[in-house]
Amino acid sequence: MPSNWEIEGYPEPIYLNIKYPWEGYEKPDFPDVPKDFNPVGSYRRTFTVPDDWSGRRTLISFQGVKSAFFVWVNGKKVGYSEDSYTPAEFDISPYLRPGANSLSVEVYRWSDGSWLEDQDMIDLSGIFRDVYLYAIPLVHVHDLFVRTDLDSAFRDATLSVTTVVRDRTGKAAKGERRVEAQLYDAKGRPVLRRPLTGEPVFDEPLTLKADVKAPDLWSAEDPNLYTLVVTLTDGKGRSTDIQRTRVGFRQVDFGPGKWTVNGKHVMFHGTNRHESTPEHGQAVPESVMVEDVLLMKRHNINAVRTSHYPNHPRWLELCDEYGLYAIDETNLETHGVRDRLPASLPEWTDACVDRIRSMVERDKNHACVVAWSLGNEAGDGDNFKTMADWVRARDDSRPVHYEGMNSVADVHSEMYTKPADVEKYGKSANPKPYMLCEYTHAMGNSNGNLPEYWEIFEKYPNLHGGFVWDWVDQNIRRPIPGDAKHSYLSYGGDWHPGYPTDGNFSCNGLVASTRSPHPGLMEIKKVYQPLSVTADDLGAGTVKVRNKHLFSGLDAYELRWSVTRNGERVQHGTLRAPDVAPGTSRAVRLPYKKPGTLEPGAEYWLDVTFALRDKTRWAPAGHIVAAEQLPMDWRVPTPADPAPGTLPALELSESGTEVMVTGREVEVVLSKASGTLSSYKVKGKLLLAGGPVPNFWRGPTDNDIGRKYHEEAATWRDAGAKAKVTEVKAAQPSPGEVTIEVTATLPTSPSPSAWHTVFTVRGDGEVRVRHTLKAAAGLPDLPVVGALLTAPAGFERIDWYGRGPHENYQDRKSSAFVGRYRSTVDDQVAPYVRPQQTGNMTDVRNLSLADRAGDGLTVLADPADGEPLLETSALHHTPSDLDGPKHPYEVKRRDETILGVNHRQMGVGGNDSWGAPPLEAYLLHSGRTYTYAYRLRALSRA
Ligand code: GAL
Ligand code: MG
Repeated sequence: MPSNWEIEGYPEPIYLNIKYPWEGYEKPDFPDVPKDFNPVGSYRRTFTVPDDWSGRRTLISFQGVKSAFFVWVNGKKVGYSEDSYTPAEFDISPYLRPGANSLSVEVYRWSDGSWLEDQDMIDLSGIFRDVYLYAIPLVHVHDLFVRTDLDSAFRDATLSVTTVVRDRTGKAAKGERRVEAQLYDAKGRPVLRRPLTGEPVFDEPLTLKADVKAPDLWSAEDPNLYTLVVTLTDGKGRSTDIQRTRVGFRQVDFGPGKWTVNGKHVMFHGTNRHESTPEHGQAVPESVMVEDVLLMKRHNINAVRTSHYPNHPRWLELCDEYGLYAIDETNLETHGVRDRLPASLPEWTDACVDRIRSMVERDKNHACVVAWSLGNEAGDGDNFKTMADWVRARDDSRPVHYEGMNSVADVHSEMYTKPADVEKYGKSANPKPYMLCEYTHAMGNSNGNLPEYWEIFEKYPNLHGGFVWDWVDQNIRRPIPGDAKHSYLSYGGDWHPGYPTDGNFSCNGLVASTRSPHPGLMEIKKVYQPLSVTADDLGAGTVKVRNKHLFSGLDAYELRWSVTRNGERVQHGTLRAPDVAPGTSRAVRLPYKKPGTLEPGAEYWLDVTFALRDKTRWAPAGHIVAAEQLPMDWRVPTPADPAPGTLPALELSESGTEVMVTGREVEVVLSKASGTLSSYKVKGKLLLAGGPVPNFWRGPTDNDIGRKYHEEAATWRDAGAKAKVTEVKAAQPSPGEVTIEVTATLPTSPSPSAWHTVFTVRGDGEVRVRHTLKAAAGLPDLPVVGALLTAPAGFERIDWYGRGPHENYQDRKSSAFVGRYRSTVDDQVAPYVRPQQTGNMTDVRNLSLADRAGDGLTVLADPADGEPLLETSALHHTPSDLDGPKHPYEVKRRDETILGVNHRQMGVGGNDSWGAPPLEAYLLHSGRTYTYAYRLRALSRA
């Protein structure tokens, strides 16, 4: 089985982003490589060659070996190769003997080729892709290059088949050989009335052309494929060599003012993808490739950049089959020395051109490839000009991409550009097509402000979307130290104690390395959905549906709609999706009815989803492709407030240390020292064992750490826990109501801040809470404005009416619809490989925690006071529990449920993870006053 040595445990893996992997041992300069420590893997095996291969040439193909290797057959040296991600093939015929043959391969971890392979990834070595033998006749089809050019209506095609026939005998008579080509459709039926045929001149290209009337075109939306079979015949008409390739009819046009597929402005709903699995390293099994394709398609991803090297050949076949546009990238990155290498150094030109040539020759017949990329972060210089010239001479049917030197490329590519700057390019009307080869850095809890990006991409005609950085976390599965029975997902720093590393910076995936989706993927699915629904005239029952597909109508979908009242579905229906031509929009009537009487205080929402009517290759019938939620503009009557006079009476008592309020139903004890409740009981049942403790901290996210925000904002870390109570005032304005006012100082520095809470305990058992934070001026932004409440152990079930079901934040909530959701406390943790804040829900109207018996606590946003909506979380961890541990298995799990009842948490950001804050609208500045309020009561078992 192909594998990487480091996955098998020798030597230890290394993860460095910009630095070359060997820099912890020695620091040679190029083209030298480390001499003292450079592991070598020696492989040996025997093989036999079938008898009927005699008279043919036998080749051995190595599909991927990192970083360089020598090959011997039967003790004779056959050759050497580098470039870890394209095939290396050797003609071993002269070395073979009948019966058993021996094959020896010596692989070097690092070679001078490694200087061109400084990609930001775990550095893994060895033979990680297939090795196989194959035989070809002496006179054979050496090359096959297919082009499909469409007419100006993008309807009929010219199929051009270019072959090069080689004669290794040196004796084959010209004129005796013929090349024949036939095209077959998806059902295997011949398409050409008569096969194309022509007479090859050895070693020279022969192009055969056919007109194909209205073929089924290929696109990511509708990936129709044909098969081309090329046959070489000898003088007697016998076929001596047969080659096949799949063909997708499609045309890419590019140039100033355009980048189109089949005539339509292409929009990349893209992601970058590294080849990585925790169990197999870069030897990604086909089943995982299929899993990746399915996950991408199901989340509306239509494009993939093979960052940063040519991928396993099966990957491009899958992109052809399932429909994903690919930017195929040369294995060339010199990040650590990119100002000097390859630059314009002539001694490196051949190596650079060889790398792109190997990729283009391998992949040129894939319909999915819509651009050639010269590499990544390899600087600029004449060598890129030479590479670009080489590609254009070989294949002018696809644009050249290279973010490192846009002047030699056909498209303008940037990475991590902020939305406002993307908009500047849009507005500039610069006709050069623009894309982000990397954006929205999906490291940990990230991917904020995606709607902002997509509003801009869809607004300006020179913009073509972007590619998320990136698809999957890179980890290696290892046993937990001291617990061999269980494994965990390790990353840089877990191996090789003391060796330099960039830690978890290789974990930037929309999915975990286990392929379990991160919540950011839900947001990607939403902003990438191929249609939108907006309000048209909701009063009259109409919405506007925009079809963003380039080629398809909406007939693959059914439209499901529902009207909810406070999260309960009260009307619903299913319709055939409306007939909306690609690129257009239409008003659509939905048959909902405004109820005769509207419930006082209730909220009504309209949810619309588009689901697959039939199963497709990539998803089952019923799979939801697109969804939207719109607030109904029905004016509901305001509910009447129950009069306080009717409340059962309470008794207020005070000691030196406590305030106690008791009634028939309720018992509240407040500690004067902490200013928080030490217990809250209703009908004798303990609902709270502590809180609300002011809290301004979150377990730092990777984006927080990347911009050192956790250090900058450190004054907020313990400010809540260390609050100093300065005054506690209890009063009883009426027999059924007690108020307790707590004033506290927060030890923020350089200036202290103030925290003020008013509790109103009511005879019916309800406690109303109103918090005011005066955050002193000159302090850093706040991670959170909120409070933590401790519910007793056993309150495991949660139920909320707010945004969900996945965690959401102010800048990542467009995919999380308002609804009533149920879950468990343990399920509130998203699978981030490095623990950080998790489980937030925005726009929460109410939330309940219950034990097995269904008893528990309800928290309601207080509609009468301050901000009407809360943010909540319910975890077995405090924010400090999530601040420090490097792995999930190290996180302390508390038996109690820690309930965050917050005004706000700052956005997650993610425009990059090395300095970019969340957008201004999602920050919580200090120097201002925040007020919010909520009500606590016993969960009524309705
Ligand atoms: C980009 C680079 C990627 C990766 C990313 C950060 O600059 O092209 O390979 O390093 O930053 O995760
Ligand atoms: Mg790099």
